[in-house]
Amino acid sequence: MTSALFTRRALLRAGASAVLLANLPRISFSDEQRLVQYRLKLQPVSWPLVGNGHPESAVWAYNGQLPGPTLRARRGDRLRITVDNGLAEDTTVHWHGIRLPNAMDGVPDLTQPPIKPGESYVYEFELPDSGSYWYHPHANSAEQVGRGLSGPLIIDEPDDANLVNGFDRDLIWFLDDWRLDGTAAIQPFGNGHDMTHGGRIGNTVTINGKLPEPLTVRAGERLRLRLLNAANARHFALEFEDHVPLVIALDGQSVEPFIPEANRVIVAPAQRVDILLDASAKPESKTRVIDTFYRDAYLLTELAYSDQPLREKPLGEPPRLARSRLPIPDIANAERHEVVLAGGAMGGMRGATMNDQWLDIRTLVSKGAAWALNGVAAGQRHIKQDPLFTFTRGRSVVLAMRNDSAFPHPMHLHGHHYRLISRNGKPLTNPPWHDTVLLLPRDTVEVAFVADNPGDWMFHCHIPEHMKGGMMGIVRVT
Ligand code: C2O
Ligand code: CU
Ligand code: CU
Repeated sequence: MTSALFTRRALLRAGASAVLLANLPRISFSDEQRLVQYRLKLQPVSWPLVGNGHPESAVWAYNGQLPGPTLRARRGDRLRITVDNGLAEDTTVHWHGIRLPNAMDGVPDLTQPPIKPGESYVYEFELPDSGSYWYHPHANSAEQVGRGLSGPLIIDEPDDANLVNGFDRDLIWFLDDWRLDGTAAIQPFGNGHDMTHGGRIGNTVTINGKLPEPLTVRAGERLRLRLLNAANARHFALEFEDHVPLVIALDGQSVEPFIPEANRVIVAPAQRVDILLDASAKPESKTRVIDTFYRDAYLLTELAYSDQPLREKPLGEPPRLARSRLPIPDIANAERHEVVLAGGAMGGMRGATMNDQWLDIRTLVSKGAAWALNGVAAGQRHIKQDPLFTFTRGRSVVLAMRNDSAFPHPMHLHGHHYRLISRNGKPLTNPPWHDTVLLLPRDTVEVAFVADNPGDWMFHCHIPEHMKGGMMGIVRVT
């Protein structure tokens, strides 16, 4: 009897430590370079998304947890991730925002064969940039990402004395949303209305895989808060009542620190915004964090001050993050191209070319598409054969994008970062780097980059319902 009990305890213990071990990197060295190894197993699991006595939700997860484990390494490391597909369908893993060789980019049929159920796949690449990134599947994305497959990927500078480096705490808020029914079950995917409108926007917002709980802070504390938006379609505009957030990095790349307009921190799907937040309210106060992106603002969470201040006087100058290491485009001699984003409900698009055939909008919708880039709604054939643009390696490029539709689109380019040089005709004084740039309805932006990474790269709206509905293309660098 006692031995049965003992065995069960031992098993429980072994089970718990197996999960922990799976999330710990194995680190080895070759020629000074660190090799950091992780293992990710995809599985359906049930997860207490809502908590508070509500039923658990059936989700798909990496290593049985939401979000997937935080993969952490340093700039200059080699990262090797072994992926075991325990789903009943094909998958891949895409390392969003990382400048890596094309073969490691995780786009099924474009950069690799899909990982079949029961199969494993090894990704390995060097990390050229520090900052906040994330990973997610690029197969059946609307559903796989929407059911919970995504996680943070954080790259530190090699000489960071410790992970916090100038901040009291380095926190991740992995933002996501879910469309749940009354039993906390995830509602089915593939809704046509989502595709032709703003994408699948959920009814339940989570931070780090759970309904938000107040964040306990101490007066005078200096936080680095990494906001990552893993939602399919929900945009966030976070306001920190009685606080002034300072933006210090966008999409992983450091920026000249700035206070965002109206103190609102906008995070479009797939974007990352690192902010410095000085806890400037009084001990024992409670301040609200509200999301005001959509007309119906709501309380996301609260900052709950403990009674013990950390320090009396606020800290001075913000610490400087390492400069970004991206190649600077030569704008004067750049190739210029236009990208027109069109389609969707209330967009006025009459039709588009799909698989070399012009189709009116009704026919397009009957074939599951409603969006186009430069008049082309990407079908499978287009993706495999006809790049939207082909650039000679090393060329500087300016893309002038125009959103001719009634919905916002976070436009993402793989394998590169682009510099946002103007918005709505106004040049930006400190042009930030983005891998995902947000175009609100009717916006125009100009982005510039050096096409220096050879391969066929996806360029798409990061709302997977729009991507699947035609809003994607290939940028080829030869
Ligand atoms: Cu975040 Cu094409 O990906
Ligand atoms: Cu990406
Ligand atoms: Cu879109």
